[in-house]
Amino acid sequence: MKHILVTGAAGQIGSELVPVLGKRYGSENVIAAGHKTQPDKELLDGGPFSSLDVMDFAAVEKIVKEHRIDAIYHMAALLSAAAEKDPNLAWDVNINGLRNILEAARKFNLSVFFPSSIGAFGPSTPADNTPQDTIQRPTTIYGIAKVTGELLCDYYFHKFGVDTRGLRFPGLISYKTPPKGGTTDYAVEMFYAAVREKRYECFLKQGTRLDMMYMPDAIRAAIELMEADSERLTHRNAFNITAMSLAPEDIYADIKKYVTDFVMTYRIDPLRQTIADSWPHNMDDSAARKEWGWRPEYDLSTMTKEMIKRLSEKV
Ligand code: SER
Repeated sequence: MKHILVTGAAGQIGSELVPVLGKRYGSENVIAAGHKTQPDKELLDGGPFSSLDVMDFAAVEKIVKEHRIDAIYHMAALLSAAAEKDPNLAWDVNINGLRNILEAARKFNLSVFFPSSIGAFGPSTPADNTPQDTIQRPTTIYGIAKVTGELLCDYYFHKFGVDTRGLRFPGLISYKTPPKGGTTDYAVEMFYAAVREKRYECFLKQGTRLDMMYMPDAIRAAIELMEADSERLTHRNAFNITAMSLAPEDIYADIKKYVTDFVMTYRIDPLRQTIADSWPHNMDDSAARKEWGWRPEYDLSTMTKEMIKRLSEKV
């Protein structure tokens, strides 16, 4: 893998993925691409940045040719709650954008990383110990696009031999770039609020348990999967991975160890509560463990300690 394109590079995952890839492959070889959001120069680590609308195939093709791209980490997408507010835009970005990336991959023989999600599951999926291969009937446009994406990636692999690989990410917690328009965003907001205002109004209700992960584990997972021996991969699109299964009160209790006067109350957002209620509590990630050696490094206490430390320095 020599030249890597990261779409959605200014987003929550992209902005942390780019510098890690840059350290590994040389920052001049990692092309960060964003559309509407301008990237934070420091986060992108001084490597090249290009403006790119993934819905424009000619533009995707141009950037791939110009930079002699070998692999694409395709992170550009709308998150779940944002997608519900504009389903047509979500379809265009999350599906047509991916199709353009896959078409470029087919034409120029590139490998592709596709981020799927807990959102690829729905209310009829077993919520506990969610199997790798199970019922996927999501009720959000975000989830429908994720399932379609998983299938499309498999299709490009089987039909055209494109090396597609993907992960079903849980809610991702990080301190560098806040997420926008997601259902699991509450967990990130809670940390910021604990450090800034010492008060937080949570939009999901007590007892809403979801898979979560600290960002460094998520970044490492994506890179490890892309570097894994292809022969060992049976699933490809996409692997369940998880690190912890948390409800709002679990995170609150852990933050209170550091910010003792932090107060959390609840004001439920019906849209995001309905979405969260349709997602798994804890996924079975044994296929990822077996096929490419996945193992999380952070649990709730090591994550909280680092989040509080980093955010205290930042805000
Ligand atoms: N974090 C995402 C969201 O909440 C799920 O993949 O939309």
